[in-house]
Amino acid sequence: MEYLLGVDLGTSGTKTVLFDTEGHVMASATVEYPLYQPQNGWAEQDANDWWEAAKTTIQSVLSGVDAADVKGLGISGQMHGLVLLDEEGNVLRKSIIWCDGRTQAECDEIHEKVGRERLIQIAANPALTGFTACKVLWVRNHEPEVWAKVKHILLPKDYVRYKLTGLIKQEISDASGTNLLDVKARCWSSEILEKLDIDPALMPELVESTDAAGVITEEAAALTGLKPGTIVAGGGGDNMCAAVGTGVVVPGKAFTTIGTSGVVYAHSPEVQIEPEGRVHAFCSCIPGEYVNFACVLASGLGLKWFRDNFCQAEIQTAKEMGEDPYVLTNQQAAQSPIGANRLIYLPYLMGERSPLMDNNARGAFIGLTAMHTRRDLLRAVMEGIIYALRQNVDTMRALGVNPEAMLACGGGAKSPFWRQMMADVYHMPVKTVTVSEGPALGAAILAGVASGVYTDVPTACEKLVEEKEPVNPIAENEPVYEKFYNYFLTLYPALKDCYAELAKL
Ligand code: XUL
Repeated sequence: MEYLLGVDLGTSGTKTVLFDTEGHVMASATVEYPLYQPQNGWAEQDANDWWEAAKTTIQSVLSGVDAADVKGLGISGQMHGLVLLDEEGNVLRKSIIWCDGRTQAECDEIHEKVGRERLIQIAANPALTGFTACKVLWVRNHEPEVWAKVKHILLPKDYVRYKLTGLIKQEISDASGTNLLDVKARCWSSEILEKLDIDPALMPELVESTDAAGVITEEAAALTGLKPGTIVAGGGGDNMCAAVGTGVVVPGKAFTTIGTSGVVYAHSPEVQIEPEGRVHAFCSCIPGEYVNFACVLASGLGLKWFRDNFCQAEIQTAKEMGEDPYVLTNQQAAQSPIGANRLIYLPYLMGERSPLMDNNARGAFIGLTAMHTRRDLLRAVMEGIIYALRQNVDTMRALGVNPEAMLACGGGAKSPFWRQMMADVYHMPVKTVTVSEGPALGAAILAGVASGVYTDVPTACEKLVEEKEPVNPIAENEPVYEKFYNYFLTLYPALKDCYAELAKL
């Protein structure tokens, strides 16, 4: 029997899945790690935690397996996180990750030095606090003693690949989220690097997702149980890997992820740049092809925040029943009517990226009264998250991306209640795929192409990815949601100035 390993390096934890070459899950292991928020709006993680989690989970899924049967490994990574290494390859500081919002001044600096329009022309996206270049500038501006030691700039999963292979390389779909890549030409932009005064020698050699980027070293083999020489693929950003794992690798297909962040994503054979950069354009995991996607910063994160702070009873009962607490919170939410008794939630707990691009935006419950219960608040949270995603579906539609159905992925897609809500709010059928491990399966497929198990990504997806029956919109729900969605759209513009004032206090 032959196997492929997919490592999904996420924000709440790393999940490693062992697949057979038919895409069946043979074993899976997850290790969680902390998110550090030293200040309001900041978000950091320890790169050593990622490596420890990768080692432990790989070891765990290999138990009872002959490591010689593992043909390749691929990593899907949370995107944009800044990993700084010194000359010896040591990590210099905690990684400033994708949902950190501290770098507005550095984004302004980038726009000033490169020119906003020129940056969008080359990097296909404006400077965004979540992306990497502004984090590089932040460290240079605020921690010159750290900056002086920097010899390599890497992203999270590429750091873990370095620990596995001993080679410092940067994969290209993820590199598209740095603001430093010439996305069309698929190379580092010498113009941007020069204008920002970043030494090109700090930027690693680029590889495509399906390239064999290295092999497992003797040292990594001893730590993980893998066989030395096992092929490690370039891998991909988590969204691009989720696309591979759900078969969204051809035009016309789209998915929505409800993970920590939320993403609306579509494949495109060519670069399609939204003039204001409200929707991202990135390289895809398929050499020469591209994607558009939009990212809301707190989707599943919002529900988790609510669950952890206000649903202790459900967490306790779920523990006693051996049940997932979300099953109970879903049941509670379903007891509140559409519109949560006229309660609207704005999901901007981490500021917002697409399409608002406002780090000062904050969460809110609008319409709270003494008659509301926790059930209403739960429902409002779930609805607000779907409305924020729908706003991005609308922005993508304006760009000419018109999917007929949506694949739902991420932890949130497990909830039938949330999937029905998505179908009703999006006005389209919502499907899932039989293997729910999207990013891990995607990473494993990339490993399969890199190691010659599969010829190419679309062929492998056709063979391995199977869609389930869709959830269709319920006609009578659609206009009711639409009424609340239209009201939701008026709230951020009304509060924008208040958020800016609040940030100054
Ligand atoms: C994408 C983004 C997030 C992270 C989360 O641009 O910032 O989806 O990749 O893992």
